[in-house]
Amino acid sequence: MSGEKVVVFDTTLRDGEQAAGTHLGARAKLEIAQQLARLGVDVIEAGFPISSPEDFEAVKLIATQVQGPTICGLSRAVPQDIDAAGQALAPAKRRRIHTGLGISDIHIASKFADEKYGRTLEEKKRRAVEMGIEAVRYARKHTDDVEFYCEDSGRADKGYLFEVVEAVIDAGATTVNIPDTTGYSVPEQFGALIAELIAKVPNSRKAIFSVHCHDDLGMSVANTLAGVRGGARQVEGTINGVGERAGNASLEEVVMAIRTRKDYFGIDTAINAKELYRTSRMVAEALGMPVPANKAVVGANAFAHSSGIHVDGFIKNPLTYEIMRPEDVGSPKSAVILTARTGRAGLRHRLQELGYTLSKEEIDQVYQRFLQIADRKKEVFDEDLTAIIGGGIRVVEQVYVLEYLHVTSGTGTLPTASVKMRAQDGTKIAVALGDGPVDAAYEAIRQAIGMTPKLEEYSIRAVTSGKDALGEATVRIRENGRTFIGRGVSTDIIEASAKAYVDAINRMVAAQAGPAELRIEL
Ligand code: KIV
Ligand code: ZN
Repeated sequence: MSGEKVVVFDTTLRDGEQAAGTHLGARAKLEIAQQLARLGVDVIEAGFPISSPEDFEAVKLIATQVQGPTICGLSRAVPQDIDAAGQALAPAKRRRIHTGLGISDIHIASKFADEKYGRTLEEKKRRAVEMGIEAVRYARKHTDDVEFYCEDSGRADKGYLFEVVEAVIDAGATTVNIPDTTGYSVPEQFGALIAELIAKVPNSRKAIFSVHCHDDLGMSVANTLAGVRGGARQVEGTINGVGERAGNASLEEVVMAIRTRKDYFGIDTAINAKELYRTSRMVAEALGMPVPANKAVVGANAFAHSSGIHVDGFIKNPLTYEIMRPEDVGSPKSAVILTARTGRAGLRHRLQELGYTLSKEEIDQVYQRFLQIADRKKEVFDEDLTAIIGGGIRVVEQVYVLEYLHVTSGTGTLPTASVKMRAQDGTKIAVALGDGPVDAAYEAIRQAIGMTPKLEEYSIRAVTSGKDALGEATVRIRENGRTFIGRGVSTDIIEASAKAYVDAINRMVAAQAGPAELRIEL
C-alpha cells in the first residue's frame, strides 16, 4: 500500500455522467478528459464500454488521445463486459479495468435471484465470490492494473466483505474499491471499516484500498475523508459532485480538504489545484448542471465576503475569513460582495479598488446613496457604484428636486403621473396624463415647475445586469437655441427617466442664471 500519496480517481465521465438528465457525447468526454489530465488526476474512469457503442468509442478515443493519467473502463464481473473494456482501453499507455459486483445481501438476493446462482442466499454468496475471482483473473488477461469494486459495501455483511476482499486480492486485484453505493454510511463507521479491512484482511498490503462514496445523506466527502484517515490511499469522486441520485463525493472538496488540512491527514495528492475552478466550470457547462453559488471550493460565493464584520476583517487580513486562497484553486480573486449589510469599510475598499479615493465626507454621502440602491437590490455591482459616483461629473446645484413621483399605467388605463417638486420658492405639485408613463411624468414635471423645455432626445439603458439592474436615462432638452443633457440612475426606469429630465432642467436653469457654484455629484 502506498503511504506517500492519495491516488485521485475521477469518475465524472462514468458515474458523474449517470446523473439524471445528463449525457456526454464522445467529443465532450474527450475535452473533459483532457482537462482532467491537466488537473493531474491519476486515473480517469472514462466510461462503461459495454453500455453503448457510443461509450465504447468515447473510452477508446480517450485511451488513444489522453496522455498522463491511467485510463479506466467499468465492467460488470462478466467476460463480455471485461472484453469490451479491454478492447476500448487497448490504445492507452496505462489502462485499468474496474470490475466487480454487488456484495450486500440485498444486492445478491435481488440481482442474483435466478436459481442458476444458487437456491439459498448462502449459495448465491458463494457463487458471487467465485464470479469476483473469475472476473479479476479474466481482466488480468487485458491488463495488470485491475480494480475490483465491492458494490454496496456500506450495507454489506462485514464478514462476507472481508472474505470477498481477500479473495479478489489473491486473484490479482491491485486496487480494491469499497463503495458506499447508497450513501448509507456515517464517517466514523466508514473510516473504521476501512481501517479494520486493512488491519484484518491478511493480504491487504498487496492492494490499494479505494473509497467511493455517494451523497444520499450529504456525507460523501466526510465518508471519503474518514476512509483516508482509515488508510484508504485512493479516493474516487466526480467534479462538482455530480452523479447518480444525490451524486458522488465532490473531488475538489476532497482534494482541498486533504491539502488544506495536511496537518491532520499528513498526506497529499498530485492534483494541480489551480485547474479546479476551470474544470468545474467545464463540467457544469457540458452536463448542463450549474454550480450552486454556495458550493465549497468552486462556488461563486466560495471566496465572497458580504457582511460588515466579515468584510472588515477580510480587508485587514484575508486569512481572518479564508482558509484557502482563491488563486490556489484557480478561482477569480476574493470578492467583497456589496449588499445593504456590507458597511462603510467594504464600500471604501471597493471604491479604492475602482480607483476612487474619496474623503470621509464624500464616502458618507456615497454610502447613503449606496444604501438606497442596496435596499432595493440584492447586490450592488461595480457598475452600480460607478453610476452612483457619476464618474465624478461636476454638476450644477439642484434648483429643482424630485421629491415624489407616482405613475400609473397599464392596459386599459390612461398613463397618469403625479409629482411633488421641491423648488427654492416652495413645493410644487402637479398631476398629468401622457402617452406613456415617462411622457406623463415629464408632463407633470413641466406643469409643476411651469416650464416647457423641448425634449429632443431620450434614451434608457441597463447599466448593470439582472432583473434588478440599474437603469440609466439620458435626456437632451432644448431651450432658446441651447441644449442641455441630464442623466438619472435608478432601479426603477421611470424614476431614472424623471431624474434625468429634472437634471437637464437644473442645468438649463443654472445656465440661464449665469455661473453657478460647482460640486462633485455624489
Ligand atoms: O457506487 C458504486 O458502487 C459504483 C460502482 C460501480 C463502483 O459506482
Ligand atoms: Zn458510484
